[in-house]
Amino acid sequence: MLATITNIDSKRRESSLTLSWAVEQLYKTLDGGPLRKAQVVRLMLAWGNYGYAAGASYLCQIVQCAQSPEYKRYLECGTGVSTILLGVIARHCGGHLTSLEQNQHWAEHMRRVVSNLGLTQWVDVRYCPVVERSGDYDWYCVDVSELSDIDLVICDGPTSQTRGGRIGCLYELNHTLNAGATILLDDTHRKDEQAAIAQWSQTRPISTQTFSGLWSKHSKVTIRS
Ligand SMILES: C[S@@+](CC[C@H](N)C(=O)[O-])C[C@H]1O[C@@H](n2cnc3c(N)ncnc32)[C@H](O)[C@@H]1O
Repeated sequence: MLATITNIDSKRRESSLTLSWAVEQLYKTLDGGPLRKAQVVRLMLAWGNYGYAAGASYLCQIVQCAQSPEYKRYLECGTGVSTILLGVIARHCGGHLTSLEQNQHWAEHMRRVVSNLGLTQWVDVRYCPVVERSGDYDWYCVDVSELSDIDLVICDGPTSQTRGGRIGCLYELNHTLNAGATILLDDTHRKDEQAAIAQWSQTRPISTQTFSGLWSKHSKVTIRS
């Protein structure tokens, strides 16, 4: 059953003037150097969707990685304000973003936003329902062989009620991620996400750094050789 996106009409309005203005400020800052937290917070405020949108600390971590030259091909699980931020950085830095979205209405909404902001060339939003992938977890229905050369994964989905949580991220992408690739996993204050990292470490050699935001934690998981 398709989950309801609350207040999608107000989300449409949010995606207009204030958002365009906040995005314009991002480009101006990028022309002069790295993005600052104030610009990221401005974008968050313009976006709204509180309760679902990524927090400032996680978004700043995304900025830090996406702006660094070793990451050029980004894969995002769970779309929203992070999609806009990554799209703007991809456009400015010559990167590309593929975004997986499990909710059809939200995917259509995100495609419209991406198009209105002139980011279609840099952002590919794909509607991928969450389906059974193995005996013990569900994940996005996507052909992973099409997702080669990914060096940065932004893992903020599927939603928390998904069977197995976000554990499928490394299991499904294992063969496409080379040493040095990084997964930015949000919500690692939660037991399911902590368990995912513990199980990933049985699959691949990884190093993990965890950061605290205002309300939550997130982790940078790097694949080692
Ligand atoms: C944690 S959210 C992803 C947030 C995104 N990375 C961002 O920075 O805004 C995970 C999923 O929640 C769903 N979602 C987003 N906004 C929603 C809303 N207002 N109501 C219900 N579901 C929502 C979407 O399917 C999304 O992929």
